[in-house]
This record gives sequence, C-alpha cells and structure tokens, in this order.
Amino acid sequence: MNKRIAVLPGDGIGPEVMNGAVRVLQAISDCFDHEFSFEEGLIGGAAIDDCGQPLPESTLALCRESDAILLGAVGGPKWDSTSHAVRPEQGLLGLRKELGLFANLRPVTAYEPLIHASTLKKEVIENVDLLIVRELTGGLYFGKPSERRGENKELVVDTLVYNVYEIERVVEKAFQLAQKRRGILTSVDKANVLESSRMWREVVNRIAKKYPDVTVNHMLVDSASMQLIYRPEQFDVIVTENLFGDILSDEASMITGSLGMLPSASLRSDLVGLYEPVHGSAPDIAGENLANPLGMILSTALMLKFSFGLDKEAHIIEEAVMKVLNEGYHTGDLNLQHGKQVGTTEMVQKVIDAINENQAIS
Ligand code: NAD
Ligand code: IPM
Ligand code: MN
Repeated sequence: MNKRIAVLPGDGIGPEVMNGAVRVLQAISDCFDHEFSFEEGLIGGAAIDDCGQPLPESTLALCRESDAILLGAVGGPKWDSTSHAVRPEQGLLGLRKELGLFANLRPVTAYEPLIHASTLKKEVIENVDLLIVRELTGGLYFGKPSERRGENKELVVDTLVYNVYEIERVVEKAFQLAQKRRGILTSVDKANVLESSRMWREVVNRIAKKYPDVTVNHMLVDSASMQLIYRPEQFDVIVTENLFGDILSDEASMITGSLGMLPSASLRSDLVGLYEPVHGSAPDIAGENLANPLGMILSTALMLKFSFGLDKEAHIIEEAVMKVLNEGYHTGDLNLQHGKQVGTTEMVQKVIDAINENQAIS
C-alpha cells in the first residue's frame, strides 16, 4: 500500500513524540512492504517563528494532498502572552476547521499493567473501556463574535453557535460507533441552562429512533464529570460538544494513569483524518527525553485503522505497546513503583523491538 502522510510535529514535546511515531510506522512499513511517504509541515509556534502564521498556506496544501495527517502538539510559553494576536493554537483549530474534521474520537482504556499508575482505585477503573466522541469544529471554539468591546474593552463576548446539521453529523457518528461497541450512548450537555444543549438533546432523541439497538441516556456535564471518576465503567460511548469534550477527555485520561497515554482521531465523512495525542506540548518537560510517546504512537494505530483500513497492522502496534507495558517499561509520567522507568527514545525502541519480534514469530 502507498500512502502520503503529512507530519506536523509542532512545538514542545511534539517533535519528540512525532519522531517516535514515524519510526514506529517505518517499522510497520518494513514488515509489510507498505510505502509510507512522510512529508513535514510547520504548524503552531514553530510556524509563527518561521513566517508569522500558525497555519501557513503550504502546510494546509500539504494536508489537503495527503491521505492522513499526524500532529504532535502546539503551543508554549514563548507564544503565550495574552497580548499576542497570533497564537499557535489557532493553527490547530484552523486545520480542524479547514479540513472539516468534525468528529474527534478519544478512546480511554484502563490498561492492566497501568492499573496502579492511576490516582483512582483499582476496582473503580479496572473494566473501563470508553470512547469520547467530541464535536470538533463548532461551539464556543468557533463562535462569532469572539471579541472585546467598548472603549476600554471592558466587555468580552464568546459565542456558542451550532447549526443543527453540525450536531446531527457528530451524533450520527457516535450512534454508529456505539452500535459496533456495547450499544450504550451517553449524550453529555447542559440542557438545564443552555439553549444549544436543548437543541443537542432534541437531535439525539430524534436520531435515536434510527438506532433501536443503542441505549441512550442524557447526562448533564457537571454530573458526568463526577460520574467519570465515580463509576467510569458505566460509559461506553460519550458524545458531547466541543468544549465539554475537551475537558472531559483530560479528566478521563487519569483512568489510564497519564494524559500521555491518550490517542485521538479527528474524522470527517471520507477516509482522511488527523491523528494526534490528546495531550499538549508539555513545556515543563520538553527537550528532556521525558515525554511519554505512547499517546502519539497509539494515534498512528488509529490512523492505520480508520484512514488506511490496515486493521492488522494497527493491532500489531497496540499489541506491541501492551507487551512493553506488561514488561514493566514506562515513562516518568506514569507513577509506578515497580518496573523500569525509561526515556522517550528508549520507549519508542522497545515498541519497535516488540513489533519486530511479533513479525519474526509469525
Ligand atoms: P499539556 O497537556 O501540555 O501538559 C499537562 C501536563 O501533562 C504537564 O505536566 C505535562 O508535562 C504532562 N504531559 C502531557 N503530555 C505528556 C506526555 N506525553 N508525557 C509526559 N507528560 C505529559 O497541557 P498544558 O501544560 O496545559 O498546555 C501546554 C501547551 O500545550 C499550551 O500552549 C496548550 O495550548 C497546548 N496544548 C496543545 C494541545 C494540542 O496541540 N493538541 C493540546 C493541549 C494543550
Ligand atoms: C486539545 C487541545 C486543543 C483544544 C487546544 C490546543 C486548542 O486542548 O486538542 O484537546 O482545546 O481542542
Ligand atoms: Mn485539550
């Protein structure tokens, strides 16, 4: 198989984890005789430093021409001042919007070898296997107006906007995913306060009629954030709007023991997708070979599965990660007393070794 992959390392630990992802994919292409071509583009702070824009036209063109996009992370203190008109995050948001990637899938699994890395009790998390489907191109993130007003700019406005079709398409996607899983869909909103949430609820109830095999429940976001750490195993698929999904997914990451473990896939109706870890650029550990590369590596498995239909190869990456964790290897973000703590590059090498061993046996 021949595929063009756009590689956008970004800022902070982005380039460190991206390097690992590309190496893992090279190991897979060597084993299976696939031709993956990797073409790098600038995004975020790195792009601002280069040309003053967080999403240069050349990067957007590269992404449009590619079969899939890998992204590390953007942002950092260098570009953080509130007076900055141009921010790294605008590059990522612009890319999601320009490519129409409306459905962001964030799976959260309690990995057996990491059970004790979580701050939550073993019995609370041991059976967790949930999927957050976050709406990604609407809501407060993209509402117009978003501005400061008045002579002294003492009034600020952010607007939460959804068109009904934007809710329909992501909810439809969540139903389809729930159907292939345990058949339970929890729609999270704030319908006791927000009109947009009441419309969201109506859409969910209407679409539910098409999926009689899926059990639907509605949950208010404040309660959902509590339930997520009280009884997380009750969740199968969670569907929610952009900002709620952003917050709930970082919270849910602690079920795995670290934000560094979570992968994500941002999809639209065709096969093109953007794959990135859920975490950010982690400026506090950048450049020190401390970053956990597994969220990024697991994102490449999602890419193989969703964009290329290479389920077997995706599974081999996931199995390699499991094997390495089972052997006790972990990066420092995972608070484990046992096993062996390794750096980013060592962790990547362990995963590649596990892939090669798997292929040597079969
Ligand atoms: P963050 O996710 O970068 O870091 C939060 C904490 O988790 C930090 O202590 C960090 O060291 C740790 N962490 C995150 N990923 C890790 C990994 N792979 N391995 C080990 N530890 C990891 O969030 P933040 O500090 O709030 O944000 C920093 C910057 O990242 C901001 O500029 C923010 O806008 C940006 N950000 C970008 C993305 C993205 O590009 N998708 C996502 C979130 C935040
Ligand atoms: C994420 C990040 C982004 C978001 C930021 C960097 C714009 O937090 O991907 O979760 O809020 O969507
Ligand atoms: Mn986030």
